[in-house]
Amino acid sequence: MSTDVMIYADDLTKRFGSLRALDRIRFEVSRGEVVGFLGPNGAGKSTTMRILTCFISPSDGTAKVHGHDVFDEPLEVRRKIGYLPQRAPLYQDMLVWDYLRFVADMRGLDPTTFKSRMRKIVEVCGLAQVLGMDINTLSHGYRQRVGLGQALLHDPPILILDEPTSDLDPNEKAEVIRYIKEIGKERTILLSTHNLAEVETACARAIIISKGRIVADGPLDEIRARSGKIRYTLSVSEQTAERGKAPSVAEVQSALRALAGVRGVNELPTDEKAHAFELAGDQDGDLRSDLFRLVVSKGWTLLELRRDSQTLEDVFRDLTKGDERRDRRLGRDADDDGEAADKKDTPERSESPKEVAASGG
Ligand SMILES: Nc1ncnc2c1ncn2[C@@H]1O[C@H](COP(=O)(O)OP(=O)(O)OP(=O)(O)O)[C@@H](O)[C@H]1O
Ligand SMILES: [Mg+2]
Repeated sequence: MSTDVMIYADDLTKRFGSLRALDRIRFEVSRGEVVGFLGPNGAGKSTTMRILTCFISPSDGTAKVHGHDVFDEPLEVRRKIGYLPQRAPLYQDMLVWDYLRFVADMRGLDPTTFKSRMRKIVEVCGLAQVLGMDINTLSHGYRQRVGLGQALLHDPPILILDEPTSDLDPNEKAEVIRYIKEIGKERTILLSTHNLAEVETACARAIIISKGRIVADGPLDEIRARSGKIRYTLSVSEQTAERGKAPSVAEVQSALRALAGVRGVNELPTDEKAHAFELAGDQDGDLRSDLFRLVVSKGWTLLELRRDSQTLEDVFRDLTKGDERRDRRLGRDADDDGEAADKKDTPERSESPKEVAASGG
């Protein structure tokens, strides 16, 4: 394993009873990478992050952070990471300032460093208005901001952020993503989110997980190209035929379907007096000339013709369709060893404040 590998997961498996939440996942994140960790609800993102941050142990496999094994050297791991759990666990009866001070003490920050870090945290997380407030009086979004502040306070080289922007307002979302991109220049960040636009903004690489398995891992361009398809959008006027009668939807659709190289023709809604369609063709080909010639030969009027790569969202949907919990249910028979492991290492679902405070190392 190269010394530049900051996060390492090898054959990581996690069983919860008969559910295989993670199934031999394997990936590496190198120094300086900002990686989007994507997947549908229940795919296993938080479970992976909880293993990497030492809050639960894997049923099988190895995980290392900054070269330290999460099982054998949890304190070393926790010193190197800032972790924002999906549901930021906070001490409800503390003032925001006192809570962050407490986290700084746990992390062993000296007063001067604390002050300078707090200036940055207050600015980035937009905390100026709430520093003197009780945590239990904060709105959900502000609690998320405090949780993010806690993760960044000790300026860790590795950040594991589980949906850091969920529940933030659009301005704050953009600000946090801008900051993540900024600090990602010299840190390693694993960022889970359901917002694919955020991944496009902040990350050069994504890992997509589905049903506990990695289904894509690579630069965003490669992932977009992965479906091997190109998407075309075409619309023809429903009225002005040059000769003969105006075309019907069915007529256009069947002519498109009959064209060589065209796959999956779907009608699109449109406000214009037009028939609009979306269709797919091979990655290497270009169907625009054939589509244009078809429209001309029929005497129809072409209003729009576009050729686009698949979007990250298209590929995400293709790769994760039908990700349902029951798909992963193991046969009882197959889980003899699983039961024992799960009794040992299945904790309560949500993180307690103690867990995060304990990550002070
Ligand atoms: N402590 C637990 N006990 C039992 N099942 C669990 C536990 N933690 C997670 N699971 C199950 O493991 C699967 C993966 O959950 P996980 O929270 O990792 O998904 P996720 O990808 O983070 O989803 P989301 O996008 O909804 O946050 C789910 O089916 C979940 O119900
Ligand atoms: Mg989650």
